[in-house]
Amino acid sequence: MRVICAQDYDAMSRQAANLISAQVLLKPDCVLGLATGDSPIGAYGQLIRWHRQGDLDFARVKTVNLDEYVGLGVTDPQSYAYFMRKTFFDYININLCNTHIPNGLAPDAGLECNRYDEVIQALGGVDLQLLGLGANGHIGFNEPGTSFVKGTHCVELSQTTIETNARFFTTAELMPRRAFTVGIFDIMQARRVVMIVSGRHKARAVRDSFWGPITPRVPASILQLHRNFTLVADQAALSLVPGEGAIS
Ligand code: F6R
Repeated sequence: MRVICAQDYDAMSRQAANLISAQVLLKPDCVLGLATGDSPIGAYGQLIRWHRQGDLDFARVKTVNLDEYVGLGVTDPQSYAYFMRKTFFDYININLCNTHIPNGLAPDAGLECNRYDEVIQALGGVDLQLLGLGANGHIGFNEPGTSFVKGTHCVELSQTTIETNARFFTTAELMPRRAFTVGIFDIMQARRVVMIVSGRHKARAVRDSFWGPITPRVPASILQLHRNFTLVADQAALSLVPGEGAIS
């Protein structure tokens, strides 16, 4: 595990964008695993700027997103499909046919999960998986207690996640209670994993995930065993790490 300590959110975003950009430059037809939420917005913004300057070409890049709410379609402003277009895809030269997100409106959840795992396999797996970290240690929507060996599956969201994400919905009741998520097994298959974490409210999750025991109670802790894992975190997120001064 490699730890990059960034001063703040902007520095973290630049570091993460650098790693993603290097992946695209080294392998122009790479498969990127992407996340939504607040954490990656700055990195996507930086990648858009480099694309506009003519430094980054996404024409052959393929993407697979981590998750989607059950019941929300691509035109729903709260869906992750919509978020990806409005935050990233609409501003780069990616072919939308090469972007993949679980279908929140799929009538059969089991079939949709199998289909999504087949998509990832058909693409040859993920070259670089970008992750955020939930305040409860979740990755994707793999909540505490999830088995490490699951592929894509449909989850009941935890109360903590519902409360945290309800801020994006007009009323808390509109917040979906279920979501599709790629499994921890899928995430561990990615050839490289980059996690970005910012803010004091994530400090406990960072400490428990990477300076504590590996346990399904803290889903991200399994990343300690990934062969190519980089944590890019800002000082606030690293503030509870023992001997934090040693991290550069
Ligand atoms: C989003 C995802 C989630 C988020 C996590 C952190 O696709 O899979 O695991 O990465 O909840 O969310 P933010 O970045 O909003 O703090």
